[in-house]
Amino acid sequence: MDVVHTAADLRASVSAWRREGARVAFVPTMGNLHAGHLSLVELARKHAHKVVASVFVNPTQFGPNEDFASYPRTLDADRASLAAHDCDVLFAPGVDEIYPFGVSESVRVDVPKISEVLEGELRPGHFTGVATVVTKLFNLVQPDVAVFGQKDYQQLLVVRRMTMDLRLPIDIIAAPTRRESNGLAMSSRNQYLSSGERERAGVIHRVLCAMREQWDAGRSIAAIESDARLVLEAAGSVPDYATIRRAADLSAPGQSDRRGAIALIATRIGRARLIDNLLLDP
Ligand code: PAF
Repeated sequence: MDVVHTAADLRASVSAWRREGARVAFVPTMGNLHAGHLSLVELARKHAHKVVASVFVNPTQFGPNEDFASYPRTLDADRASLAAHDCDVLFAPGVDEIYPFGVSESVRVDVPKISEVLEGELRPGHFTGVATVVTKLFNLVQPDVAVFGQKDYQQLLVVRRMTMDLRLPIDIIAAPTRRESNGLAMSSRNQYLSSGERERAGVIHRVLCAMREQWDAGRSIAAIESDARLVLEAAGSVPDYATIRRAADLSAPGQSDRRGAIALIATRIGRARLIDNLLLDP
């Protein structure tokens, strides 16, 4: 596996592949890779001849009181994991390579509406940071396909919309969420949890499954959401939301509108803010 740090070196590798007619897949990450990320690389491999993964902790998607400074940076371990998973190129740029005019003077990519609810409402500017960096990375890698985890469902929708709106010729593939044995969705932020908190965090997936059962039984959305919050609170977590939305655009479904819905949760356990979701009629 080659490790490149500059746009010029990345482009040299990708254009050599293109001349040979290779199809290229891309997996953007912020590093600190776990089995969930590596499953994205495996899925990418099924769709292309060559796989590029990036490791870049993107400053513009963190709010002022969020964990940008302390976000775990483990490039050596990430390099070893990617090499063992048959990745062809690891792109690990510095901030200046992605933001040559500085973060505050960067072009910004804003995806209205879908970026403004749920995570977007609670983390203002977050999805502009995500859409901006993903656009820049897409432009550098110029992949045929890119793989994103279903766990960050709203991010997936934002990236899909951005790709369609900018008419980028890239297929966006959603990878299923990988879970620990207690149902906890794998996430780099799980390492902020103590072992007791990690065990307790299994409540998130249990609540999502209960929301799906109640949805199937025809219970009202308000009752499902309020029960979900109570159970999350009883387990010692502090929910930001536990909600049912339309999977296509995260708008609120009508009570009789039972198709194409998704349950989403964001909750705090100890120092970690965790998100997860479950499609209600997959
Ligand atoms: O999901 C992530 O790790 C990040 O939001 C992404 C897509 C790599 C952009 O920085």
